[in-house]
Amino acid sequence: MCGITGYIGYRDAYPIIINGLQRLEYRGYDSAGIVLYDGKDIVLSKTKGKVSDLLERTASEISTKGNLGIGHTRWATHGVPNDVNSHPHTSASGELVIVHNGIIENYDTIKKELTNRGYSFKSDTDTEVLVNLIEEVKKQYKVKLGKAVQIALNQVIGAYAIAVFDKSKPDEIVVARLGSPIAIGIGKDKKEFFVASDASPFIEYTKDAIYLEDEEMAIIKVGKDVEIRKIHDDSLVDADVQELQMNLEQIEKSGYDHFMLKEIYEQPRAITDTYRGRLLRNEGLIKMAGVEDNMKKFLNADRIIIVACGTSWHAGLVAEYIFEEFARIPVEVEYASEFRYRNPIITEKDVLIAISQSGETADTLAAVKLAKEKGAFVFGVCNVVGSSIARETHAGAYTHAGPEIGVASTKAFTTQITVLSLMALRLSRAKGTMSSSDYRLHLQELELIPEKVERALKIDEHVKEIAKEYLLSTNCLYLGRGYNFPVALEGALKLKEISYIHAEGYPAAEMKHGPIALIDDRMPVIVIATSMGHYEKVVSNIQEIKSRKGKIIAVVTEGDVQVKEIADHVIEIPETEEAFTPLLTTIPLQLLSYHIAVMRNCNVDQPRNLAKSVTVE
Ligand code: G6P
Repeated sequence: MCGITGYIGYRDAYPIIINGLQRLEYRGYDSAGIVLYDGKDIVLSKTKGKVSDLLERTASEISTKGNLGIGHTRWATHGVPNDVNSHPHTSASGELVIVHNGIIENYDTIKKELTNRGYSFKSDTDTEVLVNLIEEVKKQYKVKLGKAVQIALNQVIGAYAIAVFDKSKPDEIVVARLGSPIAIGIGKDKKEFFVASDASPFIEYTKDAIYLEDEEMAIIKVGKDVEIRKIHDDSLVDADVQELQMNLEQIEKSGYDHFMLKEIYEQPRAITDTYRGRLLRNEGLIKMAGVEDNMKKFLNADRIIIVACGTSWHAGLVAEYIFEEFARIPVEVEYASEFRYRNPIITEKDVLIAISQSGETADTLAAVKLAKEKGAFVFGVCNVVGSSIARETHAGAYTHAGPEIGVASTKAFTTQITVLSLMALRLSRAKGTMSSSDYRLHLQELELIPEKVERALKIDEHVKEIAKEYLLSTNCLYLGRGYNFPVALEGALKLKEISYIHAEGYPAAEMKHGPIALIDDRMPVIVIATSMGHYEKVVSNIQEIKSRKGKIIAVVTEGDVQVKEIADHVIEIPETEEAFTPLLTTIPLQLLSYHIAVMRNCNVDQPRNLAKSVTVE
């Protein structure tokens, strides 16, 4: 959580940092701040609120001149969101400034020691403690900023991505990472450098970037190579300069009102990109290098353990059904946060699949490390190329969904299911657990999914009409069975996340064991009732709801007759193979929560208290 960005070079740093912060707001948006070096002194502005509030404030408060600066958009951990706790933080002397993403766990002990040495603190943050520790080390050891940062970080327990500069030596930015991401953009002829939590803030300036690894720090000076060292032993590290694949259009709204809506509509393209080059229908082949190169591991696996959080966990649940059905491999799906802390039994015959859009979720990353330590083969399904989980895993498959900016995940979910379906199909072939005709049928059907998603999106106006009737609801129930039970969970999560309506997802048959007590004439119940997958049983559940006067919004297969007669509203989706229905049934649920949230005037792309990338536990 939190986004950090910085610039050093020949251009005005201010617009670069402000634009960068706006692009990083998905990481946190409860306060924002910027500090610039104007040639003589530092000018600092920070505020509770969003980057737009910072913009208003800086316009009246400070000079925006300067070719060096750092900025921050915050998701509070230590200290409530207010102006004082906002970053950047300055050291006691006012010489050093810092922005920080992460948590310094032993900040209290360090704070006490510094207080005994005469330091006082303005904020409640762990970050202000860190910048003062760096200052104290710098004074005590009489070292330069880079060395002081290194010594200080060796005393720190926790997670961080930091950017620091010293106003008395304003020719460098020092950055460091442990557990939170940091990218360095290299300008032409090293005349300028950019720093950011991901590459989006500098995409229009350079395609050359270095992603720091954990326990690395870098000293960035104009005209010089970036000097990267290991924090703990000071050894020099060769910079691995990567060429960025992202483009500007991908991170802009392209005429849509919100990123979430854009990303919902991008799904046909995103799913196509996910299977491009992997699904070779004419040859009857699925090619996935990460699976192919490690086929033995998969074939010898006693079981697959899937770990993830949030929406990615729901994709994992869908995958459980698909892997077990197609490849007959036992699957367990775990919340990463629970898995890592419960001393799980993991053996060398386990394959662990970590699913993560961002590739940075702290709990998922920790679960990956734990499974590796215990000897399991670890496979990553990530969207962000070069992310921590992508790098930490033994092998993996990217989803290729393109940047997802809306905090509520949409295209990440459907592309994760696509990758996992491809994997399950490939393994079914290798294991001979699916007949050739079924296999070919599934390849053909998967290839048709983007076109069917396109058709499913055409019901948008109809969904909007339905949304109008339920925007004042306070509770909502989502029901589904089999492959569509996880979709019910995901539908409920989408609604809570962005419209703040309480919603619960349930397996339809479990309704009788509790949620049925909640049903009355004010309770909307969204039921996924596609033509396959226990249709008759779901119809009975719908009858049960109806006889208790619940309001039914049913997602059905095109041409449905039975449910249409009972439900208050029906939303039709194209027919497909049962295992792929989640790729279609999820579309109206995404749209429903989107429209309800917009009508309730909620901030769809930046829902309260949430962040896109949860890099703290
Ligand atoms: C946060 C986001 C969710 C996301 C979850 C897991 O809670 O708001 O949208 O599903 O983290 O993120 P990951 O990047 O690991 O998929």
